[in-house]
Amino acid sequence: MVCRTSLNSWQNLESHVKKIKTKHINELFAENNSRFDEFSLRLPEIFLDYSKNLITQESVKYLISLAKECDVDKKIAEMFSGQPINVTENRAVLHTALRNFSGTPVYVEGEDIMPPIKATLNKIETFVNDISAGVIKGYNGKAFKDVVAIGIGGSFLGPKIMSEALKPYRQKHINVHFVANVDGSHINDVLAKLDPETTLIITSSKTLTTQETLRNTETAKEWFLSKADVSDVQHNFVCVTTNIEAAKTFGIKEKNIFPMWDWVGGRYSVWSAIGLPLAIAIGFDNYREFLTGAFDMDEHFKEAPFEENMPIIMALLGIWYRNFHGAQSHLLLPYYHYLRGLPAYIQQLDMESNGKSVTLENKETNYDTGPIIWGSEGTNGQHSFHQLIHQSKTPIPVDFILPSKPHEEITNHHDMLVANCLGQSQALMEGQSEEQVTTAMITAKYSTEEIGQLPFHKVMKGNKPSNTIIMSKLTPKNLGGLIALYEHKVFVQGIIWQINSFDQWGVELGKALGSEVLTKILDSNSPLDMDSSTNGLIDMYRKRG
Ligand code: F6P
Repeated sequence: MVCRTSLNSWQNLESHVKKIKTKHINELFAENNSRFDEFSLRLPEIFLDYSKNLITQESVKYLISLAKECDVDKKIAEMFSGQPINVTENRAVLHTALRNFSGTPVYVEGEDIMPPIKATLNKIETFVNDISAGVIKGYNGKAFKDVVAIGIGGSFLGPKIMSEALKPYRQKHINVHFVANVDGSHINDVLAKLDPETTLIITSSKTLTTQETLRNTETAKEWFLSKADVSDVQHNFVCVTTNIEAAKTFGIKEKNIFPMWDWVGGRYSVWSAIGLPLAIAIGFDNYREFLTGAFDMDEHFKEAPFEENMPIIMALLGIWYRNFHGAQSHLLLPYYHYLRGLPAYIQQLDMESNGKSVTLENKETNYDTGPIIWGSEGTNGQHSFHQLIHQSKTPIPVDFILPSKPHEEITNHHDMLVANCLGQSQALMEGQSEEQVTTAMITAKYSTEEIGQLPFHKVMKGNKPSNTIIMSKLTPKNLGGLIALYEHKVFVQGIIWQINSFDQWGVELGKALGSEVLTKILDSNSPLDMDSSTNGLIDMYRKRG
């Protein structure tokens, strides 16, 4: 397989970018008054404006050629058909099967996995409806009022952030709380307010070996047993895992164990029973809508030609800035309070998928791969880090994300939010010249002395690219589509970088060393035989008094 940087399209992009870098996005708009129409994509509920990018049709042509030279279409087909594309773990990658409403089978090692998927979804539906209706009760016969969902990483971020995003759809009579960190203040903060009689504990862990989740579950059990008997655990504890035996050993009865499968990665698992807390929070019908939105995006991703394929276009724009403009990070700015957690979700999705540097040919990459993903809700960032994105020399491509219709119509609020969002993307693109600054200060009656050197400090070069993604309203269906859009963007980038986006070997060493340090902390007589920094720090902690 030819190294990516030797591909014709990669070489063409390397020479093309030299020409493009002499341009300013303002010029591209001045040269073409139909730029907005030409560089935007419309799906029924989600619109992508990518016209504020430093690209021409020629750029898009070369980027599309790169996707074709990297056999993106072949890899997409392999994923959806259950090929073991997660090669280092010899697994299929089939989070898409969890939301496959096409009626067609999906085979893994010759077995159609749709029946067990449907059975689990039916089990979730029945369970969620029975919890909601008070049919399933706690050990003392009382209906559940609270759910504590314990999990971390993909077993936490998905249900928590989607529940937050879909707050307007939440069932009012059941409160779902989330615990992830092993810092005891997190679980203590949650449990202190709750009553074991009316609290359901859901432990979500694909492996059921994650230290934080096991510790938090034990603490929840101790809290529960302060009031209940061990025989009551079977009524108030549920587990979502592939590790069925470990769940049973913990004392969770079979019908309260929800299976998941090893061909679903943690960061792609909100569509599986890991989404159970979300389904309880918003009700099963809304959870099904969430799945349906992702299914619709899957169909678009599979069928749309590259030029009209939203995930592929977004992926290629990311490659353009990462590999041809030296961008180190990618900024997500959701202009909607309910989407404030989205950057954290996409952080795991993107950085745990593409934060790799070895190719599928077992060679170190000679190019950059996954960017640093960061961001926060707009307009808040305008009063914090936007100074840097406007006036620093660091290229930072931005995704602005917003709904055109809010859930709460309160006078002018949404208009102001949208205006700020569009204003920011315009300012990043246009900037302001020294001449414009000087003219504006003269018009504002500043004296020559007052103007002085200020224009140098007020100049903004602009030419800073952004995408704007607008959905009609943040509904469960549109949220599902948005998440699937980013999943497929990440997947396509991994194909082009020729890396395995579906393993995560990089997290293992830290966990192992953390466990070693823990044994030295728990046994103060154990020898301090590590590096002097770690030894010194353990010793200080041991003497913390
Ligand atoms: O961070 C590593 C990781 O395995 C993530 O991929 C995963 O989402 C998280 O830890 C939790 O894993 P589990 O669901 O097995 O507890």
